[in-house]
Parts: sequence; structure tokens; C-alpha cells
Amino acid sequence: MSSIKAPRGVRDILPGESWKWEHVFSVTRKVAGDFGYREVHLPVFEHTELFSRGVGETTDVVEKEMYTFEDRSGRSLTLRPELSASMVRSYLENRMDKQHQPAKLWSAGPMFRYERPQKGRYRQFWQIDFEAIGSQDPLLDVESIELSLELFRRLGLSNLEVLVNSVGCPACRPVHRKALQDFLRPRLKELCESCRGRFDRNPLRILDCKNPACQAITEDAPSTISCLCDECAAHFDAVRKGLAMIGASFEVDNRLVRGLDYYTKTAYEVLSGELGAQNAVCGGGRYDNLAESIGGPHTPGMGFAAGVERIVLTMEEQGCSFGEPPRCDIFVVHADDSSLDAAVSALYDIRRAGMAGDMDYTGRTLRARFKTAGASGAAFACVLGPEEIASGKVTLKDLRSGEQQAVGRAELVGFLKTVL
Ligand code: HAM
Repeated sequence: MSSIKAPRGVRDILPGESWKWEHVFSVTRKVAGDFGYREVHLPVFEHTELFSRGVGETTDVVEKEMYTFEDRSGRSLTLRPELSASMVRSYLENRMDKQHQPAKLWSAGPMFRYERPQKGRYRQFWQIDFEAIGSQDPLLDVESIELSLELFRRLGLSNLEVLVNSVGCPACRPVHRKALQDFLRPRLKELCESCRGRFDRNPLRILDCKNPACQAITEDAPSTISCLCDECAAHFDAVRKGLAMIGASFEVDNRLVRGLDYYTKTAYEVLSGELGAQNAVCGGGRYDNLAESIGGPHTPGMGFAAGVERIVLTMEEQGCSFGEPPRCDIFVVHADDSSLDAAVSALYDIRRAGMAGDMDYTGRTLRARFKTAGASGAAFACVLGPEEIASGKVTLKDLRSGEQQAVGRAELVGFLKTVL
């Protein structure tokens, strides 16, 4: 009908789906509280340099995917492609270091990345993001990973693969970088064009390439774990032990590298077989140097983000329950024009008493109004006509059984509360 369509890669979340999202958010809110995380709402756009410095100049996100624009004063702003950099910015700006540490924060909202749209990959997508900022305790890594798993458990998701790795720190990463470059150099020509470009700039990302030829070449490449310094190795050991101790199931994946440059030590992803190529429902890790890269003092942190569209898609494909969609309790039907005012008045009494009521705004005939009442999913139709008005009553029709009974108009709200 409308000639203007939504831009490519964005979606309207319509009522048939939005109630499912609501379920995901309400479960998230409960899990967040159980783990001591508090909600924050952060801006959708930030200074561009927050992401170029925080996420990393050589990442795909910064190089190719950001929605960057100049505002009317010529400042370069960017629609946030992710939340961790904003969370750390907010932590520093609001002096959360002065409060109890770590600051455990969560947020949900839309992110923006100019990626090629496909199933589970959009240009505007929602993330649920959890960050614990201000501690380098490996038990916080355990808590963050387990929080994501507990969230998925409570949403009823199954068959998830949990991959954990350590990507080291600025002390051990150059050792790995050199080992990797030495390993790849003889076969550089066989790598795909993007990987040849990554060889000098960001060789770690070559391990993440989806091209089968590159994957075959990197199969026996030196892993990050084999190059960890003592501190990173001890940290990774403590994370693995902690996860095993609480019975979290996970696998160590030596090849796991994440697409954002701020990670240090722990990196992890949760994958769902139901999603096809875009199979990560959640990804996260530790980012002990992110605060410094955006101009703050050294402030360690750990967190993850899960994609809401991907959670909902996986839940649908696995037949998980979303609870009940919201529905109307009572549909008020006026028998003729002369009873309209009485019907409207009954409807507002019902709503003011906190029950969900509705009426028909288009049906010209009584038959049509009953049809809408049936389609609304309401439990009862509350019928008012000249006879009911004259006797001070309403006719209450149980729309499932078809049974009818007369209820005093004055008792209507009280009675409905007992039967709903
Ligand atoms: P990320 O791996 O880029 O990490 O994104 C996290 C999750 O967001 C993915 O696992 C996926 O579920 C969802 N996602 C990402 N891109 C898209 C897209 N184009 N369409 C639909 N869903 C998408 C981060 O963003 C980090 N900030 C996570 C983090 C938090 N690390 C530490 N703290």
C-alpha cells in the first residue's frame, strides 16, 4: 500500500512478535536481578572516536559497518554498533569507579551495523548486553558466562554450543602474532584477499575467516593458548576451573577469536545449530584495556551481548514457550445505537478496574460486533441492549461455552473479578 518501504536490513517488530520479545525481556530482567546487575539506558549515538578507538580501527565493524554522520555542527557521530564501549564510557563519565566495584550493568536496545542482511543478520538489531566493570577476578568471567547460560536455560533454549578461549593480553599477543605470521608467511599467496590484507594489520582475524581455503591453511596454526603469558594462562585456568566447578558445560576452542579488538584474556561465544550461517546467539569476553583506549584509567571489565532476534528465532525453531500473548478479557457489545453510551460507560468501568476490555469500532450490525468479539480472544462478551438497560443488568456471555447469564450492572466489575 505505502510506496515508501523500510530500508534494507531493518525489520518492523509487529504485535504478533512483539509479545514474544516482551517475554525475553522480562526473563532477562529477572535473571539480571538474580545476578546483581542493574539496568541502564544509554544513548543510541556517540562520538565516532568512541568506537574507532574502543572497538578498534582494523575491525570490520569500524572499517566497513558503522553508520557515521555529521550533525548540524559538523561533529562526527555514529549510531552505536555495540554497547561495551558506551558502557565503559558511561562508567568513566559518571565516576562509577567511586561506587562499589565492580559496577554490574545491563542494557537492551537497538544496534546498527551496515552488514549484508540475511537470516539472523540485520542492519538494525537488538542486543541484551551485560557488563561487569572494575574487577579482573576470573570468577567474574565465570559469572558472566554462566549468566548468559542461565538466561538461555530459563528461556528454554537447548542444544547450545558454548565455546571459550583466551586471546591473551598486550604482553603475550605479540608473541602469538609473530608465531602466526611466521606460520602463515610461506602460504600467504593462498589466503583469500581479505586475509592477505589482514596479515599485517590484524593477523588474529585470519583464524576467524569463513573461507574454506583459509580455514584449511590455518588448521594447524599456533593457537593463542599456546602463547599465553603466565598471568593470562593462570587466569584462563581459573576460568575453566570455575566453570567446571559450577557444572557449566563448555568447550575450549583454540580458534575462537572475536570480531572486536578490545578483547583480552577470556573470549567466548554461544552458538545455536538452528540459526544457519549466523549462528552466534551471544558473544563476549574480557576487555581489560578498553577504558584506556578511550582515554580513561586502566579499568578491567567483562561482559557479553546476546542478539534478541537470534534468541527469538532459535526459540521459535525449538518450540520454546513464550508464555501467553496478551489478550482482551471482556468485549463489550452494544445491541443497538440507543445502548451505545451505556456500553461505553461499562467498558471504562471495566478498564478502570484494571481488566482488559475492548469494543468494536467498525461493525455496523450486531452480528458483526459479535464476530469481532469472538476474534478478540476475549473470555466474555458483555452485552447491553434496551432490555438490559431497563432492568439494570448486563448479559454476560461466556465466549467459549456460549453460556449466558444476567449480572446486575452495579455488580458487574466485582463479578468479573471473581470469574476472570
Ligand atoms: P558481537 O559478537 O559483535 O559482540 O555481538 C553480540 C551478539 O549480537 C551476536 O552474538 C549476535 O547474537 C548479535 N548480533 C551481532 N550482529 C548482528 C546483526 N547484524 N544482526 C543480528 N544480530 C547480531 C558485541 O557486540 C560485544 N559488544 C559483546 C560484548 C559485551 N563483549 C563484551 N561485552
